[in-house]
Amino acid sequence: MTEKKISTRFERPVLVPIEGVPVQSNFAANWDRVKVFQAQPDDLLIATYTKAGTTWISEIVDMINNNGDTEICRRGPTHERVPYLEFGGPNPLPIGIEQAINMPSPRIIKTHFPYQLVPKSFWEQDCKVIYVARNAKDNAVSLYHFNRMTCLQVFSGTWEEHLENFMKGNLSFGSWYDHVRNWWENKDRHRMLYMFYEDMKKDTRKEVMRVMEFLEKELPDEIIDKIVYHTSFEVMKENPMANYSSIAETGYMDFKISPFMRKGSVADWKNYFTVAQNERFDADYKKKMSGTTLKFVSEF
Ligand code: A3P
Repeated sequence: MTEKKISTRFERPVLVPIEGVPVQSNFAANWDRVKVFQAQPDDLLIATYTKAGTTWISEIVDMINNNGDTEICRRGPTHERVPYLEFGGPNPLPIGIEQAINMPSPRIIKTHFPYQLVPKSFWEQDCKVIYVARNAKDNAVSLYHFNRMTCLQVFSGTWEEHLENFMKGNLSFGSWYDHVRNWWENKDRHRMLYMFYEDMKKDTRKEVMRVMEFLEKELPDEIIDKIVYHTSFEVMKENPMANYSSIAETGYMDFKISPFMRKGSVADWKNYFTVAQNERFDADYKKKMSGTTLKFVSEF
């Protein structure tokens, strides 16, 4: 069962709107500073809806940037190597905006903001962006478990309640449907690589090479193989610099409820959706996603 509060040190945030988008209160508190963040032309922005594969793409990018050097990529946990722009604590976790400001260039910066909330300096500076999207059903399941296991997230209820919240966009960063669509519809206006979690699972090497080309890097075959190996689910799960165990140690995540590196698969949704939920979800999805060229696979 879900637990409303897993840490006695931090009360879970609630949702408050930023320009009409529900965002967790401790992040919204920083909005004035985040909105005016000054991007640099060599910043790379990684954007995703929560639980779409942010940590995975972050590791891939960091490894490519560092020519597959695993020692360098273990210089710190993901959240230190890739600041989470709108992250609002609590202590001792770093405030994302402060981390980003203090980080030397070239920076990799992560955001879960919908397209319209991205600080405009990223576009003024023509920064590169990698967006990763994951099929709605697996994304919903992954987020359900994440919300259960960390008090850093807004509580979204039992599986049934969570699914309802997901369909209504009643979660931090709002509607998944709006998120993936808005980023998709604006991708050609920017230097943006729009990727899919399912493609990354199906042919990791191919997707690593796409990222490499996008980053204008050339690496020999054996380094690409090394990157594919070290960014596999199994290896990342055991890597303390990529598996969020350092946050679990602070007490803000409880891996006994659900580990951060949980299953890392496609179609796990089949273990959660009832037949009735699936039918209702599909009908609603059809309406919400009508008129877009954006297509997902949710099983192989
Ligand atoms: P599951 O909960 O389905 O296992 P994010 O980093 O955006 O929070 O996304 C987390 C999800 O990505 C989790 O999904 C996690 O297991 C999965 N993930 C992380 N690294 C991965 C990898 N190397 N390969 C496949 N999935 C990965």
